[in-house]
Amino acid sequence: MHLKIILIRYKEAENFDGLPFVVIKYKAEHEKKANPPDKAEKYEKGLGLTSAEKYGGINKMKYSFDEIIDRRNTDSVKYALWQGNSGDLLPLWVADMDFKSPPEVSEVLIQKCRHGIFGYSDAYGEDYFNPLYDWYLRRFNWELRPEWLVKTPGVVFAIYAAVRALTNEGDAVLIQQPVYYPFERAIKDTGRKVVVSELVYGKNGYSVDFKDFEDKVVKNSVKLFILCSPHNPVGRVWTKKELMTFGDICLKHGVFVVADEIHEDFVYPGNRHTVFAGIKPEFADMTVTCTAPTKTFNLAGLQISNIFISNESIRQKFCSEIRKTGYGAPSLMGIAACKAAYQYGEEWLEELKEYLSLNLDFAKNYLKENIPEIRLVEPEGTYLLWMDCRGLGLSDEKLDEMIAVKAGLWLDSGTMFGAGGQGFQRMNIACPRQILKQALERLKSAFKSN
Ligand SMILES: Cc1ncc(COP(=O)(O)O)c(C=O)c1O
Repeated sequence: MHLKIILIRYKEAENFDGLPFVVIKYKAEHEKKANPPDKAEKYEKGLGLTSAEKYGGINKMKYSFDEIIDRRNTDSVKYALWQGNSGDLLPLWVADMDFKSPPEVSEVLIQKCRHGIFGYSDAYGEDYFNPLYDWYLRRFNWELRPEWLVKTPGVVFAIYAAVRALTNEGDAVLIQQPVYYPFERAIKDTGRKVVVSELVYGKNGYSVDFKDFEDKVVKNSVKLFILCSPHNPVGRVWTKKELMTFGDICLKHGVFVVADEIHEDFVYPGNRHTVFAGIKPEFADMTVTCTAPTKTFNLAGLQISNIFISNESIRQKFCSEIRKTGYGAPSLMGIAACKAAYQYGEEWLEELKEYLSLNLDFAKNYLKENIPEIRLVEPEGTYLLWMDCRGLGLSDEKLDEMIAVKAGLWLDSGTMFGAGGQGFQRMNIACPRQILKQALERLKSAFKSN
């Protein structure tokens, strides 16, 4: 298997003078990056010009996010109900965006199409690893090593594999509901036991009851914690202090951690994403970190994610589970897109984040002024809004029905996210502002004409 050969090559390289080119390049780059370039320092200190500043205003930015693109009948999961029929349900549910990916990425994919050969593929060269290395060092001060990397077709796929690799049937796995629903599925589908430490929702938003967290760990002999960071759906960007508390409890009780950090690039101003495994080597040693370019650059259909595991024994177990699924090699287009996105996509991402911040302000103000019964949980990260609809005084069934039938909106019902999701709805605001406006107007007319 390609993956195994590469891992062996990397491993051998550590004690070997005639280093393979991947490692030579890695070492050279590593030395170079000991002094980060000016631009990186500016980003770190928040001194860099925003794109809007650079182009003289939000309307003059280089990329356009206002364009409304018809996704009906394009085999899109988000628009599945539109496939071959003419329904009128506006979809703001699953976490993909109604924006084109960075044009630099499309350009690379077009070149692949022109080449016209789509055989088995993998990423053998440093041109796959180096953009990842740069990205994580520059943006998160996390220094990757090539041998930590395992590519999978998706993060959910990796979570299933990690659960199988790190626990046995019947073992307890802890999650913090309300949370991204495939976490619970991965535990149940693999015959493990779900243990929930519910997030606490108060006047100032969501927090963790660490006493409950530790009690549940001890009482159930929890073997694995699946951390969602930033958290989908409540939008928390965990502080370093919170992450350290999670980590210290897990360390104390021998609990492995799967850190799903797929939303890491969507953090609103004033917040900062901390890579859990980057906090201290003891945390890295018990952790599988799941990342992907797919959320950040809207590439989910290309099926590529990057999983980082520094502990070699965990990595071997993880790779063994992946082998047992029969998965062979990553998608050609996924590899090409990943390389291009991390290499050329940063400016696009920064503009997108500015656009999303304005969408967030727009939705917040609209709800406050027009439907105050719906309270927005102010997100620190992600483009998913978690809306507290309990002020409407409706049962979950009625709320879901009103949203689908009366408002004509396809949102994710809070109940899907488990404990604590009752009376909530999740809305994806990664769409042109005109569409967001339409969606909010639909909500208003559904609930105000009642
Ligand atoms: C927290 C979280 N993890 C994973 C995923 C999906 O990842 P993938 O498409 O790589 O399986 C999502 C998508 O919404 C998500 O929100």
